[in-house]
Amino acid sequence: MKGVVLAGGLGTRMHPLTKVTNKHLLPIYNKPMIYYPIETLINAGINDILIVTGGSNSGDFLKLLGNGKQFGLKHINYTYQDGEGGIADALRLAHDFADDGPITVILGDNIIEGSIKPAVDGFLSQGGGAKILLKEVEDPERFGVAELDGKRILSIEEKPAHPKSSYAVTGVYMYDSYVFEIIETLKPSERNEMEITDVNNAYIRESKLTFDILDGWWTDAGTFESLFRANCLVAGKYE
Ligand code: DAU
Repeated sequence: MKGVVLAGGLGTRMHPLTKVTNKHLLPIYNKPMIYYPIETLINAGINDILIVTGGSNSGDFLKLLGNGKQFGLKHINYTYQDGEGGIADALRLAHDFADDGPITVILGDNIIEGSIKPAVDGFLSQGGGAKILLKEVEDPERFGVAELDGKRILSIEEKPAHPKSSYAVTGVYMYDSYVFEIIETLKPSERNEMEITDVNNAYIRESKLTFDILDGWWTDAGTFESLFRANCLVAGKYE
């Protein structure tokens, strides 16, 4: 299983914090943001990792992460996303890296307390398709939201005004190689992005999307409020 950290995009939502640096290099308590998703993959036993980055400070990722030695890795792979075409557009750049095998994708601004290893193991034994991780939240309208019927996902809506459940789709996705065929069929959304929610809905249409509920706390860190929250949650771990 290979891992992909998506840390592209221009982070304009977070100006002036991101005027001279990349969002994923901002501190979360005692480490840069990007460390957390990398460590989440490594803790799940994934050691072959691609970082997709972008923007004008992408060279800083190389300075910070180097060849991955500080994480116990043999090397790290990097690629560059032009512009801000969306999460599925960034994922498209992992096609060659994936080499027709299964991948676990994690968004570079997702900070997770627990382990995703049980989900990764479960995905590998389901024999293809896709798996996502859900988490119950108080503000589902900020996220992709799953409509559920017991253990079945009926649909996912991206940032719905009237969410059909309180289960947010977290930024951890497991896919077989079919994901890259789906991406080629996508059209940009109203916000002019290639949406990961459209990818997941394509798997739902084929009855090939499973889900787990993530244990422990989870947050994104892509707004001022959630960045602050992520800092508090991580700091709380050390108390
Ligand atoms: O955090 C989970 C949520 O992430 C999901 O619930 C949503 O379904 C999903 O669309 C996403 O929503 P956001 O609006 O929070 O995504 P955002 O644009 O903030 O991007 C999240 C990360 O994805 C970002 O830190 C880096 C990566 N990304 C994003 C874009 C737009 C890229 O690598 N390239 C991009 O072009």
